[in-house]
Order: sequence, then structure tokens, then C-alpha cells
Amino acid sequence: MESGEYRPGLDGVVAAETRISYLDVDHEEIVVRGYNLLDLIARKTYVDVLGLLLRKRLPDEGERRALEDELQAAEVPPAVWEILAKLPASMHAMDRLRTAVSALAGFDPEADRPDPAQEEAKGVRIVAQVATVVANLARVAQGREPVRGEPGLGFAANFLYMITGRRPDAAEARAFDQALVAYSEHEMPNSTFTARVIASTLSDVYGALTGAVASLKGPLHGGANEAVAHMLLAAGDEDGLERLIREKLAQGERIMGFGHRVYMRKFDPRALMLKETLGRLVEAKGDPEARLWLAMCQRGEDVMRAEKGLFPNLDYYAAPIYYALGIPIELYTPIFFAARTAGLVAHIVEQHAENRLFRPRVRYLGPRGLKV
Ligand SMILES: CC(C)(COP(=O)(O)OP(=O)(O)OC[C@H]1O[C@@H](n2cnc3c(N)ncnc32)[C@H](O)[C@@H]1OP(=O)(O)O)[C@@H](O)C(=O)NCCC(=O)NCCS
Repeated sequence: MESGEYRPGLDGVVAAETRISYLDVDHEEIVVRGYNLLDLIARKTYVDVLGLLLRKRLPDEGERRALEDELQAAEVPPAVWEILAKLPASMHAMDRLRTAVSALAGFDPEADRPDPAQEEAKGVRIVAQVATVVANLARVAQGREPVRGEPGLGFAANFLYMITGRRPDAAEARAFDQALVAYSEHEMPNSTFTARVIASTLSDVYGALTGAVASLKGPLHGGANEAVAHMLLAAGDEDGLERLIREKLAQGERIMGFGHRVYMRKFDPRALMLKETLGRLVEAKGDPEARLWLAMCQRGEDVMRAEKGLFPNLDYYAAPIYYALGIPIELYTPIFFAARTAGLVAHIVEQHAENRLFRPRVRYLGPRGLKV
């Protein structure tokens, strides 16, 4: 790229060097610290991947147990629950989450120190705090007490338990865990870029994460998964979805859950994995509504491929999984953020360790020479 060349949306621009992850589109591989993310989804748990992202290698059995203990021990300060309880329930769940993530800084005496070693050490605690907040967002907004995790349940099962208030069975816990891994890290999406831009001023981890929540809320990014659920609910059945998609396309609207800046005309490999996860969950639960959502998703996929040559992204198949698990739709995007917190902290640590301030230039289109 020529120096000074303008690329709208920074499309194709390499903005950082990283050892965390890489989307190798030609080889259909999402590399995460050397591993293929699809292998991690298939064979590992979110806690393993958390260890990989924050401690830089897959944990052994003892290390995994230690991570589970660390996650279980993390507390959300009572004042954060009080702040959340005072916010209008009408506020979007991602806005309430953004406020909570920001407030967490107030209870970390070291919050202001952009020290990579110390941030890496507390990253696990932050992931646990974010997950606990996310799981309780709806409950606290209704004036109820937050639910704590149960000792003995693994992290993913506990997260789901706190959301639904019901102990998940093995198939449900595994499906949720796989979705968490799928969302854990994905190179340089807008929210990760946002976090790194903020961190590059040597601002702190909570500030960088708070900015990332705001970025992730948007429907062109994390907000797509809840938009997919609303679309499927409005459609009702396969024919309804096909009609809805055709109407939207005729009006020039975008269909949420399709397309991706990097994969654009290819299947997001994570979506393919979660489609399989959804299929297994549908079989295990034998729930007719979950089966209908799988059928609707397949029809939507066929229509979009034929009409636009576009393929599903991760959010398209995460939505029906969350729906089948009985998760309130307003929590879909916050759950994305909770899962991604591991990757975000890894990027903030890396930015602080090898920092250079982000400060791009513009192509000026305004007038000049005006006299005051
Ligand atoms: C993700 C997304 C923002 C990427 O956008 P981008 O890289 O800037 O791509 P563009 O907006 O330039 O789109 C390129 C073309 O594909 C079309 N397109 C892209 N995504 C589309 C979608 N979901 N529905 C309909 N058309 C879409 C655009 O209209 C455009 O067509 P044109 O060239 O005829 O104008 C975009 O695909 C989108 O809006 N998807 C829906 C939201 C979503 O699911 N987000 C989650 C991403 S993980």
C-alpha cells in the first residue's frame, strides 16, 4: 500500500503485529496462538482457551483446575450490583454492561497501571467478573438479587446456570461451552481494534474494555446475533423467513448474520462448527422449536447463497443455539462480549507490552482559506 493511500473502513490494512491470532482465509484456518480455532472448539473447553490466550499455552489438568478455582473465586463488588440496579431497565443490556465494566475499575487499586504482567495476571478475574455481570444483567434489572455460581460446576456450565437459574445437562453445557470458545478470539474485529487503540495511549485495561463493549454493541458487529433471533422470531417458519429475507433484500436492507469483512464470500468457519453444534443440541433435546429454528436457518442460508452469494457468519448460528438453551435474547450480545473478554485482554496486554500510539492521518475534503 502506498503511503497516504486511503482505504475506507481500513479494509485490508495491517494495523498491528500480533502473536495472538490470525485469519488465514486462503487456508480456511483461524490460528489462535498456533492452534486451529476449530480444533479448540471441537476438543477443548473455554477454560483451556482462556489459559491459552492469557497464559500463552494450553493448561494441563492441574493448571485447568487452578484456572477454574480462580474463576470461581472472583467476586463482583457489591457496589457494581448497586450501580446496575439503579440504571433504567429500559437501557440496552450492552449499555448496562458497559457501565458495569467501567465501574469495575473503581474496585481495582491497580486499575491505572498499564502494566502488561499485572494485567495478564488479573485477566482471569476480569473474565469471571464480566461473565457474572452478564449472566445477571436481566435479573438485576428486574430488581432481583444476582445469582452466584455453584462450586463444582465448570465455568461454562456455571455461566449458563447463572443465566437460566437451571443446572444445564451435559449436552447443553457442551453446546454453550463450544459457542464461548468460538467467540473467544478473532484477530482484529472493530472491538479489538478499539481496545488496542485505547490501550495505545497507555490508558488502562478497564477503559479499553469499556470502549470495546460500545463497539461490540453495534448491529454490524456483535449486535448481529440478537438481530438474527428477532428476525427468526418474526419469520415464524421457513416460508416466513424466505419471504422476510426476499422483502428485505428488495428494499435494499442487509440481512443480519450474513457477510463478513474478512470472509465476505465464504462461509465463516466458526459458523460451520456452530451449525454442527446446533444440530447435535437439537438431537439431544428433541425440542420441536429448536428443530424449527435449525430448519429456518438452513432455508435462510440457501436463499442468501442463491440471491446474494453471501454466507452465514458466527452470529447466525449462535442465535439459535442460545435460543434453544433458553437464554433471553437481550443477553446474546453481552455473552459475545463475555467470551471475547479473554481475547481482548490478551490484545490489551500485547499492546501495552509492545506499544506504539495509534495516530493515523486523514484525507481532508473540507474548504481552506476561509477568513474569520
Ligand atoms: C459484516 C459487514 C458489516 C461487512 O461489511 P463490509 O465489509 O463493509 O462490506 P460491504 O458493506 O462493503 O458489503 C459488500 C457488499 O455485500 C453486500 N452485503 C454485505 N453484507 C450483507 C448482508 N448481510 N445482507 C445483504 N447484503 C450484504 C453489501 O450490500 C455490498 O453490496 P454492494 O457491493 O452491491 O453494495 C456486512 O457484511 C454486514 O452488514 N453484515 C450484516 C451484519 C452482521 O451479520 N454482522 C456480524 C459480522 S460477524
